[in-house]
Amino acid sequence: MVTTRRKISVVGAGQVGTTVAQLAAYKNLGNVVITDIVEGLPQGKALDLQQSGCLQVFDSIVTGTNDYKDTADSDIVVITAGLPRKPGQDRSELLKVNAAIVKDVTEQIMKYSTDPLIIVVSNPLDAMVYVAKEVSGLPKHRIMGMAGVLDSARFRTFVSLELNCSLVDVDAMVLGGHGDSMVPMPRYTTVSGISITDLMDREQIDRLVDRTRKGGAEIVGLLKKGSAFLSPGASVVKMIEAVLLDKKRTLPCTAFLEGEYGCNGIFFGVPVTLGNTGIEQVIELKLTDAEQEMINTSAKDVKQMIDEVDVFLKNG
Ligand code: APR
Repeated sequence: MVTTRRKISVVGAGQVGTTVAQLAAYKNLGNVVITDIVEGLPQGKALDLQQSGCLQVFDSIVTGTNDYKDTADSDIVVITAGLPRKPGQDRSELLKVNAAIVKDVTEQIMKYSTDPLIIVVSNPLDAMVYVAKEVSGLPKHRIMGMAGVLDSARFRTFVSLELNCSLVDVDAMVLGGHGDSMVPMPRYTTVSGISITDLMDREQIDRLVDRTRKGGAEIVGLLKKGSAFLSPGASVVKMIEAVLLDKKRTLPCTAFLEGEYGCNGIFFGVPVTLGNTGIEQVIELKLTDAEQEMINTSAKDVKQMIDEVDVFLKNG
């Protein structure tokens, strides 16, 4: 049987993009193309990574390029391109700067790939994945954002530290937008099937929920320069693996909603089934009134940002 290797293109050869490329190659998930606007950067990272192949035992071909032609016929494209917020720059300004970048990147990608699956990582996430959908014209199941896997991994970590139990026994669910109003779900967060609501008191849970919401900022505060990249990269690769190996994983992903959870026309973090066609199903949980209220608040924040970016897309 002749099989063709899958092709994963990573746009942005920065911290997150490099981690995605590295882990995807280590796991032999397919050939990897890294691209960036900076000349030499993706080429240097690709060559360095390729030279680790004989040591890490992978034979994926890793290519670095500044030319989108080299991304032709990608199965998966991961967009990490973007600029960090500058001192004094307000959120709205950053939104426009990164929206322009993601718009350009998506146009370039779509010139050379007809039906790629796109995973957006660039921030502000919920708005950037919307830009990629609008510009690509791809059906909603082929385009998603990475946030929930990362936010849940943070929640899982804090639960295991608090309870002094193995990380691998902890499962967690975090829904909503990828911002301060994200909605960690203690009722659906378990240690070997036992809900943490049976294992912790209210004060402990509230403290961990708060730390999860501020998880990204905590790392930025420690690093001083740049933001988290190891767990974001690992989160993306978990999604890539679910798709390329058709695993039908149930994972929280940023998906386009049309009525689910009372949300319409926005990208939002929800549990989905992830398999080789992309998002195969959005899973609707039965929420309590208090949980639905938190979802509504988060959806309102996301909608505001998407409306803002929509105006930018229409008027430039
Ligand atoms: N086309 C391609 N690459 C670009 C473009 C562009 N138009 N503009 C910027 N880039 C590249 C930069 O040159 C840089 O190499 O995007 C890369 C971003 O890398 P980092 O600054 O290291 O950022 P990183 O930590 O990887 O985060 C990337 O993910 O988690 C989010 O908030 C984070 O939006 C940010 C993104």
